[in-house]
Amino acid sequence: MSYTNTESEWGTVAKTLHWLIGILIVIQLVMGWLFTLRAFEGPFQVQLVLNVHIPLGVTVLGLAALRLLWRFGNDHPQLPKSMSWWEMFLASGSHTYLYMAMIVMPLSGWIATNAFGSPVTWFAGIALPTLAAVEAKETGRPLTSMAAQIHFWIAAGLSAVVIAHVVGALRHHFSLKDIVLARMAPKGWVKAPGA
Ligand code: HEM
Ligand code: HEM
Repeated sequence: MSYTNTESEWGTVAKTLHWLIGILIVIQLVMGWLFTLRAFEGPFQVQLVLNVHIPLGVTVLGLAALRLLWRFGNDHPQLPKSMSWWEMFLASGSHTYLYMAMIVMPLSGWIATNAFGSPVTWFAGIALPTLAAVEAKETGRPLTSMAAQIHFWIAAGLSAVVIAHVVGALRHHFSLKDIVLARMAPKGWVKAPGA
């Protein structure tokens, strides 16, 4: 298996980025919804946001940029011709949403954090550029709340699309019995149906 993609196979770079980003996104979503439910009260939640959620989210942004460059500067396997027009539409629509969310989630979180008045740092306290000027409390903080709303609603959509994506992948494997899941899985982990 090559590191680049071909018309029939995903290469190691695309697969590694898919699974790495996929795992990070699921961790971020679960952590984020636990924040919303106030599962970790008080200073522990603040530390989790600052030391884990923010640096991991920024990591997703960097990996997503690499992934998009790789995806559009490289060949890629086509969806099976046996799929109907609406299956193709749902598959490409959901992939577009997933790519959009990988960029919009970190950027909206970053802008909300900076506009609220907190710096954004990566692991080991590495300082990152400021994307928005601090808003004073008296202004009602319109940019902070818009970015936070975007962060919330895109996350809600993303949670639904990720579930549909996983169900779709399992349907390809177990019901449609095509190669779609096997060709994205690490080599040797999933046997193509009928192989
Ligand atoms: C257990 C979880 C997951 C499974 C089983 C899974 C499975 C798959 C499979 C089989 C494909 C290949 C489609 C094809 O070859 O045409 C794919 C593509 C893709 N997956 Fe996942 N995935 C999972 C999690 C995620 C997550 C959490 C994300 C979120 C970012 C994600 C984003 C994508 C994207 C954007 C593509 C489209 C690739 C392209 O055509 O450029 N996946 N996934
Ligand atoms: C893959 C990237 C990310 C995902 C999937 C994600 C997901 C979430 C979710 C689901 C929530 C809870 C709903 C909400 O309040 O909006 C949340 C909260 C939050 N996120 Fe993110 N996030 C990501 C990246 C980031 C980044 C890069 C930052 C900042 C630079 C950030 C800052 C925050 C903050 C400040 C909160 C509110 C925490 C609280 O309630 O105390 N997020 N995130």
